[in-house]
Amino acid sequence: MTIVSRRGDYTFQYNQRQNRHGWLRLTPAYSVKLVEEITQQIELDVGDRSIILDPFSGTATTGLAAAQIGLTAHLLDINPFLVWFGNIKCTDYTPDELAELECLIPIIVQTYKRFIGHNLWLPPIHQIERWWSESTLQILAAMHHALVEQVGQPGIDHTGDLLWIAFCRVMIDTSAAAFNHVSMSFHEETTNHTTQTIDLFFSEIATNILHNARYQMPGYARVFQADSRLAPPDRGVRYTHVITSPPYPNRMSYIRELRPYMYWTGFLKQADRAGSLDWESIGGTWGVATSRLKDWQPAQSALPDGLPELCAKIEQSHEKNGVLMGRYIYKYFHDMHQHFQNLRATLAPDARLKYIVGNSSFYGIPVPTEKILANSLDQLGYAQIERQIVRKRNSKKELFEYCLSAVWNG
Ligand SMILES: C[S@@+](CC[C@H](N)C(=O)[O-])C[C@H]1O[C@@H](n2cnc3c(N)ncnc32)[C@H](O)[C@@H]1O
Repeated sequence: MTIVSRRGDYTFQYNQRQNRHGWLRLTPAYSVKLVEEITQQIELDVGDRSIILDPFSGTATTGLAAAQIGLTAHLLDINPFLVWFGNIKCTDYTPDELAELECLIPIIVQTYKRFIGHNLWLPPIHQIERWWSESTLQILAAMHHALVEQVGQPGIDHTGDLLWIAFCRVMIDTSAAAFNHVSMSFHEETTNHTTQTIDLFFSEIATNILHNARYQMPGYARVFQADSRLAPPDRGVRYTHVITSPPYPNRMSYIRELRPYMYWTGFLKQADRAGSLDWESIGGTWGVATSRLKDWQPAQSALPDGLPELCAKIEQSHEKNGVLMGRYIYKYFHDMHQHFQNLRATLAPDARLKYIVGNSSFYGIPVPTEKILANSLDQLGYAQIERQIVRKRNSKKELFEYCLSAVWNG
């Protein structure tokens, strides 16, 4: 019997120690080590020939890893916050820009205190009192205000955005959110942080971020906002490699996890937008995304083998949400099939694909993601399809991560 280990170095936790990769600890990320191993395996050329596509960019791990070793990568994500964040990570900054920004750190720390207690803007986060104590919230609101004064709203000043990343770190580190599990939970109590603690946090984090930002990258990576179920926008290139990790069919909602960041940075303004964004995301399942499933009609009839039978099994499980979950799984694989179908137009002959995917299980019924996606690829004319276990994801259930590879012979 082969023993497959849980490999902490193949998760986002490994990235926290990896310079720019560690700027924000976001659950969508896969391990930079894994990407580095893949890039070493697949004969990428530094130069004009190899162009990587990551259609599910998340925190831009693929793009950053590629740019750091001199490669070119285009990345796509549906979430505007992740597009913004990914581009900050993948940008080169000049020494002058960084020096100027460094001077702003003490200015912000000195000036924000003037605004504490003023009736300032607060993000419209549901039950915000579960996230921060009243006094910590006042400090964050004042610091947010000072940052807007100094560098503008997020997205206005590309160098100033580095300080917004530092703010995001302070905001999340002072919250009662706990990210110990796959999904987020709350500590029972919020903490009253002092201005001294927050000053120290912000100054240290911002200085560290500016330090990491000094290194110029020999390659190039850019993130674009797009829905990867549709044909990617034509950028005049054909991709030689696709390296990515799409959502898994496990009901994890990226929007739910990213809410605090998205509200504080202004990428989410109303709660109902969160649900619709999750609906557009593959595997999204939060709020309105679940209720819309009931009326959803597939856009195409071609589907991987065995999917209708698997969904029928889940629907007939006699579980309360069985019917809904059967539809959820159906839509997930339908959307991924559509993605593989539309991707073909952007691929160079012999393009190599590497997808890191996870299986799941509903009411004890296994959902073999890697097999179903392999079947989609096969139906759509991809060749050399292989499935390889990367790591075990969970000690209790039979949950694994796989690397699904294929070649597009065009
Ligand atoms: C597993 S995460 C990617 C993680 C990434 N490899 C990283 O290291 O951060 C999947 C990503 O797919 C994005 N996504 C979901 N549906 C999408 C769609 N229809 N089009 C483009 N991106 C989508 C999500 O927003 C999420 O960021």
